[in-house]
Amino acid sequence: MKSLVLLTLGLATTFTLAVQVGPSPRQIKNLVTFGDSYTDVVSVGDGGVAWPVYAAGYGPFHLFPFARSGATCSNNLTSRPAPPVFESQLPLYFAEVANGTLKLKPEETIYTLWIGTNDVGGGGLLTGHQAPGVTIVDTVSCAVNWVKTLYASGARNFLFQNMIPLQHVPLYSADSYPNRFWTAPRNTTEWSVFMTELVNSGNEIAKLMLQDLPSTLRAAHIGLFDSYALLVDTRASARDFEFDMEVQTSFGNRGNT
Ligand SMILES: *[C@@H]1O[C@H](CO)[C@@H](O)[C@H](O)[C@H]1NC(C)=O
Ligand SMILES: *[C@@H]1O[C@H](CO)[C@@H](O)[C@H](O)[C@H]1NC(C)=O
Ligand SMILES: *[C@@H]1O[C@H](CO)[C@@H](O)[C@H](O)[C@H]1NC(C)=O
Repeated sequence: MKSLVLLTLGLATTFTLAVQVGPSPRQIKNLVTFGDSYTDVVSVGDGGVAWPVYAAGYGPFHLFPFARSGATCSNNLTSRPAPPVFESQLPLYFAEVANGTLKLKPEETIYTLWIGTNDVGGGGLLTGHQAPGVTIVDTVSCAVNWVKTLYASGARNFLFQNMIPLQHVPLYSADSYPNRFWTAPRNTTEWSVFMTELVNSGNEIAKLMLQDLPSTLRAAHIGLFDSYALLVDTRASARDFEFDMEVQTSFGNRGNT
């Protein structure tokens, strides 16, 4: 539970990339979430409370959850049998806006995206299952395009959550073992080495691209939530964070989400 508090505090304090002053306290009333199983509030991997539900209660915010387990940014790039952000989650959001189901004032609404785990993972970039020619540059550009796409529709407040240190989760660690996500033979050392490269380079590319956005997206407030650092810190000193080990385990097991 404590880790969820950290995530929530992060929501309020990480508008580090904003060109102007970010939203004021109590300005934000709506939380609209996109992403994969780390954010899915329906299919919750560990059966616990998904962070958006906790954050919405803590805000308080009205929650509009679009994230779905197993999702990638786009099935054009890394295809998986789950509703991707660009071909499913965003279209559903826009359909609900168009027919009046959703009426959200831009200044009272923050949009979040936590994606990438499945894009870079087994069945994706890690194992060469992407569309021909697709690289980490394309999957990260896709995620950053989520900001531009929503901005074009009027959204102004964004929180972009980067990838966690996936090289340490059981599925991708050097001492991994056959599990429900992967049973085929593999060199676990090579997976962990490659995953370290994918996550770190992907996060850096995302940061640079996001820093470049406010100059073209007037009055946008873009926050980068450093999930990578959060998980590194909590893993290094779980006791300092009073980190609930159950939560940590659940992140770990869901290296493929
Ligand atoms: C996916 O491919 C379709 C068909 O080529 C295209 O219309 C669409 O813009 C692509 N989406 C993304 C996110 O690249
Ligand atoms: C609006 O669109 C959504 C998504 O397609 C649909 O689920 C909902 O039933 C629609 N509502 C109305 C009132 O048409
Ligand atoms: C796995 O990959 C590592 C790094 O390339 C290499 O040193 C090791 O020999 C490989 N192990 C096997 C069993 O092939």
